[in-house]
Amino acid sequence: MPIPRDRSEAAAMLGVPPDAPDDQITDRYRTLAHIFHPDRNPDAPDAGARMQELNIARDLLLQHRAESAVITLDTEATSGLSRTDNQRIATVMHEMPYGVYFLGTQRQGDPSGMIADWVLQVSFKPRLVLTAMEHDSYSLASIQENRALSIALLAEDCFELASRFLQPRDPAKIRGRSRADQLRDKLAGADYWTTESGCPVLHEALTWLSCQAEQFIPAGDHMLVVSRVLDGGHQRQGEPLTSRNTGWNYSG
Ligand SMILES: Cc1cc2nc3c(=O)[nH]c(=O)nc-3n(C[C@H](O)[C@H](O)[C@H](O)COP(=O)(O)O)c2cc1C
Repeated sequence: MPIPRDRSEAAAMLGVPPDAPDDQITDRYRTLAHIFHPDRNPDAPDAGARMQELNIARDLLLQHRAESAVITLDTEATSGLSRTDNQRIATVMHEMPYGVYFLGTQRQGDPSGMIADWVLQVSFKPRLVLTAMEHDSYSLASIQENRALSIALLAEDCFELASRFLQPRDPAKIRGRSRADQLRDKLAGADYWTTESGCPVLHEALTWLSCQAEQFIPAGDHMLVVSRVLDGGHQRQGEPLTSRNTGWNYSG
């Protein structure tokens, strides 16, 4: 089975209903992990990939729940709109198309990265780009620490590669997991190079920018980061990966 793209594919992969409670998701994940773990299947060449798919399915279900619960509570409490109105507006906002980017950062020489689609140019002179980042993301903390980031536009054929970077570097960000879990090296095994400021750029990306963060502006549940573009380049030809072809909805 391929990497799940959304909650319903993740639920189908784990064999639970899409609205299963957290403990059912976790129990089912543990049962499957017990069966499919590479240590138990040393002769199966795809055991590692299978385990990664299960991890992504579990995290998609748990993380999505945590995020959407917070968003629904916030929007209902602050907008004065009914749940039905909120849901209608969310579906309208899902129609807004976005590019899918790999956002690279580093902390003390240790590179990491995440997937972001809230990325846009906001000035010609100087060239400035805006990224909107979750307050508790590891990537934001890294940018606040050393002001450096890279932004790489992913290609249509990078869907599986992009899936590796959906999960947070710090597993404690996902409900049901603790800080006792190790920080995840999301770039392990990935093919990348680093900019002068040490931020990773995936070789598979179509284009890259090297940026220096200049302003941090709190905006609701995200921090807006305005960055000056220092350098950039093309790496290969191809169609960009967009929210239209991933089916991932980071909007609404
Ligand atoms: C399609 C898609 C787009 C996303 N866009 C953003 C974004 O623009 N800003 C953001 O903060 N998180 C975004 N995320 C969520 C991050 O990728 C996710 O929270 C990630 O775990 C953060 O990793 P980190 O904590 O290691 O930095 C997006 C997720 C998906 C699936």
